[in-house]
Order: sequence, then C-alpha cells, then structure tokens
Amino acid sequence: MNSSNPIIRVRGLQKTYQTGDVPVQALRGVDLEVPPGEFLAVIGPSGSGKSTLFHILGGLAPPTDGDVWIGGQNLRQMSESERTELRQKEIGFVFQKYNLLPTLTAKDNIAIARSLAGIQEEPPGFEKILQHLGIQNRLNHRPRALSGGEQQRVAIARALVNQPAILLADEPTGNLDTANSEAVLDILCQLNKSTGQTILMITHNPEAAAFADRTVAMRDGKLQNI
Ligand SMILES: Nc1ncnc2c1ncn2[C@@H]1O[C@H](COP(=O)(O)OP(=O)(O)OP(=O)(O)O)[C@@H](O)[C@H]1O
Ligand SMILES: [Mg+2]
Repeated sequence: MNSSNPIIRVRGLQKTYQTGDVPVQALRGVDLEVPPGEFLAVIGPSGSGKSTLFHILGGLAPPTDGDVWIGGQNLRQMSESERTELRQKEIGFVFQKYNLLPTLTAKDNIAIARSLAGIQEEPPGFEKILQHLGIQNRLNHRPRALSGGEQQRVAIARALVNQPAILLADEPTGNLDTANSEAVLDILCQLNKSTGQTILMITHNPEAAAFADRTVAMRDGKLQNI
C-alpha cells in the first residue's frame, strides 16, 4: 500500500436503512481521510451512525451512495471475493457485539481468523498480547462460558492475529473495567507505534479517545473534526 496516500478514504458516504415504515438516514454525507499509521478515534452519541460507518468501511455492507477506498482500491469496484480477501488479510475487526463463533473455543475463534488469512503460525509477540489481555487461561472455553469482557478481549485478540494493516474497532473497551480498558488501549498504542498499524476506534469514552492521535465526532450521520 502506498504510504503517501490515505489508507482509508471516504467520499460522500450515505446510508439509508429501509427496514421499517420510515427510512432511517444513518449516514448523510461522510467524508474522511485516514493517513497510514494514524490512530483515529470516532466518538458520537448513540444512533449517530458510528457502527454503520464501521460496517461500510470494512466492506461488510454497501453504502446507499458514496465511495470508500481502502489502500487506494474502491470497494465498489471490487468483486465480493476480492472484498472478502481484503477483509481477511488487511483488516482486523472488533465488533461491538464481539461476533465470536459460539461453537468454537476462544482459541479456535482466534485460530480460524489466522488460517482464513493464510497465516500458518501465530505472529511473534502474540503470546504476550494474550497475556496482556489476560485471557490466556480462558482460551479453551466457548464464548458462552466467558464473561462479556472476556469475550471482548478474545475478539480483540482475533482481530490482531493476522497483523492487519488496518484495525477497525467498534467500542473495543465498551465492556471492560478500567484496568482491562487500559491494557487494551496500551496494546493498540504499542501496535500503532511499533508496526504502523492504522487504527480506527469507535468509542463513547473520552478517556479512550485521548489515546488516539486525532478524534472526529459523528453527529446525525455526519463527521465533524474536533
Ligand atoms: N440494520 C439496520 N436496520 C435499520 N436501521 C438501522 C440498522 N442499523 C442501524 N440502524 C439505525 O441507523 C442509525 C445509526 O445506527 P448505528 O448502529 O450506526 O449507530 P451508533 O452510532 O453505532 O450507535 P451506538 O453508539 O448505540 O452503537 C440508528 O438510528 C439505528 O437505529
Ligand atoms: Mg454502534
């Protein structure tokens, strides 16, 4: 990926959900550029469109209008299988609701993300990340035997195992106590500094946003610099 161009570029993004009687305009013209290696926080009230933006940036849902370029590639111009490959190899996702596979242990949830990315071995230093996340003793459990905060930390480990160029994290500390939140934010900062990983982190928590290089705010489906 070219280092001088934005690794994430968004132009005129709009999303309208048509599921109920009344259409919901979740995104109303979002523009954003994230340079490679930036740690960006996205804050904003509940319902302002943060998770909608997260799903569209990762190619998990199509916009109603507008474009997203990841590493210079326009998601709209890629085939579904090209978008899947991009997701598996270049992007790590931490979902707001974790999305762990219920029938697999924590360890296998992490391993499957790695093997889908075509990586044979855990990356160097991954054991340390697991330790720092405090989940190394919980790896043989299935998600239903884990607390919400433990599931969240497994989801973070899963997102990091393929050493993605871009980490998209939707409220990664949303269910964590102060000590675990700090551990997670420390890991993200360290990876950002040491590997140049680009991070887009959605958060309600101003203390978490303070770890980022820059913060933007979502209000009623639009982004504002703050
Ligand atoms: N699948 C969907 N179908 C219909 N409406 C949706 C859907 N997903 C989100 N919305 C609506 O779009 C708007 C934005 O939702 P979104 O989940 O993006 O907000 P958010 O900023 O992530 O909120 P939170 O902080 O509570 O997670 C809300 O009004 C929501 O009800
Ligand atoms: Mg959300």
